[in-house]
Amino acid sequence: MVYDNIVLIGFMGCGKTSVGKTLSRKLYKDFVDVDTVIEAEQGCSIADIFKNKGEAYFRTLEQKCINELTQKKGQVIATGGGVPIYSEIPEKSLIVYIDAYFEVIVNRLSARERAKRPLFDDEAKAKALYDARIDTYKALATFSVDANQTIPTFIHVIVDYILDKRVL
Ligand code: S3P
Repeated sequence: MVYDNIVLIGFMGCGKTSVGKTLSRKLYKDFVDVDTVIEAEQGCSIADIFKNKGEAYFRTLEQKCINELTQKKGQVIATGGGVPIYSEIPEKSLIVYIDAYFEVIVNRLSARERAKRPLFDDEAKAKALYDARIDTYKALATFSVDANQTIPTFIHVIVDYILDKRVL
């Protein structure tokens, strides 16, 4: 199998963006982040899109964004936590699930980072969302990495896995 792109999935705050930046450097690939692209295109924050246009509208933007980004090949793409749930991830993507416990994620997210995420307003609701989503993340993943430690401790596991595969 030849993969077009590496797509990182996982719950909010699991570290997809940080992992993606490091991974792209190590693999000499371009890095793109779906949320950042949407914010740049819309000229406002994700929180404002949720507030002013609603979640359903945001989900249509995500699908459009991932479709457009994957017209190009050879990239590391960080997705928002809802992409695997609400969007189709194009075939020929090597999907890496950044698998961290909810408690680890909560401890990792600063108050500032939490405030950026409308679906993290309420911790109990976020935990219910986490429980509802993890089976989908696992089922979609080409590869899952235990991300409960710091990034330097597990990044080489992802790099080794990918170096063994053919990614354009
Ligand atoms: C969401 C995750 C967020 C962002 C939006 C919705 C979700 O991205 O796309 O707030 O539904 O899980 P991160 O996973 O980068 O936090």
